[in-house]
Amino acid sequence: MNKTGFIFDLDGVIVDTAKYHYLAWKNLAEELGFEFTKEQNELFKGVSRKRCLEILLDIGNVTASKQDFDRWMIEKNEDYLKYIEKMDESEILPEVPRVLKFLKQKQVPIALGSASKNARPILEKVKLLSYFDTIVDGNNVTKAKPNPEVFLIAARELEVKPENCVVFEDAVAGIQAANNAKMKSIGIGDAKILTKAKHNFNDFTEISSNFLESLISE
Ligand code: BG6
Ligand code: MG
Repeated sequence: MNKTGFIFDLDGVIVDTAKYHYLAWKNLAEELGFEFTKEQNELFKGVSRKRCLEILLDIGNVTASKQDFDRWMIEKNEDYLKYIEKMDESEILPEVPRVLKFLKQKQVPIALGSASKNARPILEKVKLLSYFDTIVDGNNVTKAKPNPEVFLIAARELEVKPENCVVFEDAVAGIQAANNAKMKSIGIGDAKILTKAKHNFNDFTEISSNFLESLISE
């Protein structure tokens, strides 16, 4: 039987940091003189910081010099870091530890596959770092989701074939990236948004041990 690897996205799958990303972008938009809504924020999920700023400036019809652009990237991140500074285990999404523990017990390899450059400190803050055999994040990739690069690197590091990997994702771009990598995509969130996911659950409370078992032995 072929070994199965499990890859988790971070923001919106393991921790509810999407709300902090949103607040930091919203603050910047306000400073630049326009509104940034929760609906628009959907487009930012799974998307790199640089690409998010490009989309934000498009929304606000703002033209930026290279200097402005770099300054706003730093400003948004510093603001975001203030929000996540005090994060602890209470911000882990429901039943994520149960799923990680189950997989660990089954001795399956586990990776993080995130677009964020802040992934490692967040995992440290919520004390989940030790579950992961490898961390692939925004510091390791050159191509953003929906490009499959982040997940393909994770598979390589886990020494598992891409087609034997399972990916948990909350973002449209992330589901596309998993599908592009020929991996099994599992949407965490609204099925009406994550229409291209192979399976969909609102959150991990809906994912049973039997289901996880079936993924391992498929
Ligand atoms: C993704 C988030 O996980 O990371 C995006 O869904 C975010 O919203 C991206 O823009 C990059 O994160 P960071 O922490 O490097 O700015
Ligand atoms: Mg996400």
